[in-house]
Amino acid sequence: MPFLGGKELAQVYAKAKREGFALLANNFAETNVLLGVMAAHAAKRSDVLLQISQGAAKFAGGGNALAGLRALVSYVRALAATQKIGVFINLDHVTPDAIDSFIVPALQEGLCSSVMIDASDRPFEENVAITQKVVELARPYGVLVEGELGRIKGVEEGIVSDEAFYTDPDEAVEYVARTGVDLLAISVGTQHGVSAGRELKLRVDLAKKIDEKLKAAGLERPLVLHGASGLTTDQVRALVAAGVCKVNKDTTYQYVYARTAATFYIAQRAEVLPPDGVPFDPITFEAQGARWSPNKKVFDPRVLGKEIQAAIQRVAEEMIDQVGSGGRSLYA
Ligand code: G3H
Ligand code: ZN
Repeated sequence: MPFLGGKELAQVYAKAKREGFALLANNFAETNVLLGVMAAHAAKRSDVLLQISQGAAKFAGGGNALAGLRALVSYVRALAATQKIGVFINLDHVTPDAIDSFIVPALQEGLCSSVMIDASDRPFEENVAITQKVVELARPYGVLVEGELGRIKGVEEGIVSDEAFYTDPDEAVEYVARTGVDLLAISVGTQHGVSAGRELKLRVDLAKKIDEKLKAAGLERPLVLHGASGLTTDQVRALVAAGVCKVNKDTTYQYVYARTAATFYIAQRAEVLPPDGVPFDPITFEAQGARWSPNKKVFDPRVLGKEIQAAIQRVAEEMIDQVGSGGRSLYA
């Protein structure tokens, strides 16, 4: 299946809304997470939504976000061609200042299935105007647009919010009506970054109310949950039952990556680092005053990379079970 566009993604969301499941929206910035996430979705026969934030694109592009986006998308494109499941790309948390430099070329070059414009830190009218503009830009390309109303606490890709502002259901109806967004990101108590779900005051009732009010106004939309890392299975399921169709996960993957790497290198320390106090030159491979060499069977980055991919696959499969998208691919 080639990497697919907004029309097909809308069909996946329509099925999710009808059948009461959600897609994981999986952030990645490098290939080990991407490969693990892809493998999990293929194994579970779930369509996969990959997310690239501006920060991730900038990282992948050595400081140039558009170059990084092009590189990551061409990698995804090549992998997607080997898969039976549907593969989609969302541009995550794009800020208003990057509309011309990031969103416009991404639309023109077919680099995404959907885009999130994040003007949630702006006053309501400004958020509406900016979101409207992106919707107008995206329409001719059939790319879906996600807008956000309310504010999620925490830090995500340099966007910092010290406080949470819960989404107001009436404002949500007005926002969707006036902007025509395809997906609505809501703030119902989740946080970006490391936060234990059990300690959060989640407003499932609010998500439900927003969903009901949108339905009553003839504006039903898939709701989007940001800051979903750390939630329990019960919390995720309750929110999916309340109308959430997109569950964003970034921090979980970052942590699993780091934990796998830390565990691996701590266990293999003596194969990678010389004994304490022994200088080792990585160009000449000479250890001063000792007979020691590093072990290529261990330090080849592909060895750790495979462990990371497997760990990411395991955790992604568990989270696919939480959102219920397994076995529901429109294509596989
Ligand atoms: O946009 C990305 C997500 O909202 C990430 O949330 O930090 O809880 O994984 P997370
Ligand atoms: Zn987010």
